[in-house]
Amino acid sequence: MVEVAMTARDEGGPATSGSGVKSPAAPVAAGSRAAGNPSAANALAGSGNSSERSAGGASTAAMPSDSPGSRAAGAGPVDLDDIQGLLRFGFKHHTEALILLLRVKDAAAARSWLAQVQVTSAVTLDPVPPTALQVALTRAGMAALGVAGNAVGGFSEEFLEGMAGDGNRIRRLGDVGASAPELWNWGSGDREPHVAVLLYAMPGHLADLQHTTELGCALGFDVTYRLTTTDMGGREPFGFADGLSQPEVDWDRVLAAQDSEQLSYRNLSCLGEFVLGYPNEYGLYTPRPLLPTSLDPQQVLPRAEEDTSSADLGRNGSYLVIRQLRQDVRGFWQALNARAGGVDVEREALAAHLVGRTRDGAPIVIDRPPPALGSPPASASASPDLNAFTFDADPAGHRCPIGAHIRRTNPRTADLPPGGDGLVSRLIRTLGLNSESRARDLVASTRFHRLLRRGREYGTQVTPEQALRLQTPVESGLHFMCLNANIQRQFEFVQSAWIMSTHFNGLHCESDPLLGNRKPGPGGLRCDYFSMPKADGLTRRLENLPQFVTVAGGAYFFLPGIRALRWLASAASA
Ligand code: HEM
Repeated sequence: MVEVAMTARDEGGPATSGSGVKSPAAPVAAGSRAAGNPSAANALAGSGNSSERSAGGASTAAMPSDSPGSRAAGAGPVDLDDIQGLLRFGFKHHTEALILLLRVKDAAAARSWLAQVQVTSAVTLDPVPPTALQVALTRAGMAALGVAGNAVGGFSEEFLEGMAGDGNRIRRLGDVGASAPELWNWGSGDREPHVAVLLYAMPGHLADLQHTTELGCALGFDVTYRLTTTDMGGREPFGFADGLSQPEVDWDRVLAAQDSEQLSYRNLSCLGEFVLGYPNEYGLYTPRPLLPTSLDPQQVLPRAEEDTSSADLGRNGSYLVIRQLRQDVRGFWQALNARAGGVDVEREALAAHLVGRTRDGAPIVIDRPPPALGSPPASASASPDLNAFTFDADPAGHRCPIGAHIRRTNPRTADLPPGGDGLVSRLIRTLGLNSESRARDLVASTRFHRLLRRGREYGTQVTPEQALRLQTPVESGLHFMCLNANIQRQFEFVQSAWIMSTHFNGLHCESDPLLGNRKPGPGGLRCDYFSMPKADGLTRRLENLPQFVTVAGGAYFFLPGIRALRWLASAASA
């Protein structure tokens, strides 16, 4: 079977170094703050690395070791031909996309389709093939396929429970009120998909790809939902340039696999933050199912890098989070217009403060001449300085409000809250002993909470000017998708501790201005404010912000390595 592949030019972020990617990483240093002494930031946030256990020595199925600190084993080659392309490419040339949500109706037929479907790998190809296909499975999907329970127990708790499978999780993610799972179109109860098939195509090629895919899987699966997408030309439905900031993934494994304090923000992330089976930012291997080799007699699965006596079901895979986020574009622009007194420039300025970037993508924390309205959206690859900034020079949020969407979702800070270089100052800040440190601590280690975003827009695109004139809402939104190796520490942390938190970084009564559900918390605590502090000491505060985004579906998937997909589809997994 031939795996189709892409070219690295297709990547959303900075280009990586070609197709080889076999360079060894630096040797691993001993001693881990993460292992023995979790940072105050993570202790406070409750995100820590408690789930980042050593996989070393695990030899029984699905039982990663509980010991906190064995080190990464060393660098081997990166198996690009075993990694699904979505981890390396945004498929930006493939402006047409469709996500098929499937449920198993005949397990044997479903397995035989999964055993041979052509999956696009992360290998560079030139020219770019016209289509790409990716496959991801939920826990319910693995059960429906008949995968043995002892093989999957080593997946993370979040994945095993599912996005809508636990009341606490639902509340923490903010999926309440109009966003409650029982109101979703798909994703909760018996509407949880088993498999997501992601189809990407260059213009004019999607219909054929959809036809052959649906025909091919029809014996084994029912298509229960089709998530269609719309090419909005690099903008999301509110009209902002999107897809500008991404972590750069260390495909060349040049970062030393160790948890050393980073005192300045960097955009390069360890491979293991996104791809299972490689060391993460703590210098550890994220837990995943490591199986006795007796469960893999054909040697379909790769062996674990840190323990070659185990078959690694997780290696080269990742967790894929999909959430259908319905956007009230009309409500957004009409609400801002009302607060701007109908003044165009004021409305644009308010919108830019909510996001932290102008509609054309310029970060407002940097002083620059405003771009002409209506000009094409900026792209990070065309203007790299669109991402070359931190918020260090704007600690009070005078330029970019602390609660702006991009400042909440990536505070761009390193391990320690800012302060002097002296030993005492460092100690105070490490322990979070002063109030400033405490407020900052929650955001002090951005590098443990990065997401590789792969979302696609859907529905009807309208301009802000059209939205102001609309009498009734139009249906549009974002199929938010992100990849991460640890759902709890990455997606769930960003969603709950940063986006939904009403006390993010010292703020009160606010949540993310785009995404907040505005539902009062315990004791009627409001969360519908948005403050914009000014250098003259006054703070402009918006109140009664309506809910602009509603969750309409969602699920946690495992995007397996291609060999792992074949193993899951084989009789050996049963
Ligand atoms: C309808 C919902 C959403 C809209 C309209 C939206 C919009 C945007 C926009 C306009 C940007 C700036 C451009 C860019 O850097 O790509 C951005 C950045 C970002 N968003 Fe969202 N977003 C949404 C949902 C989410 C969710 C659910 C998350 C995470 C759970 C998220 C995480 C991020 C991150 C991490 C960034 C990059 C921040 C940076 O590194 O500067 N977004 N979003």
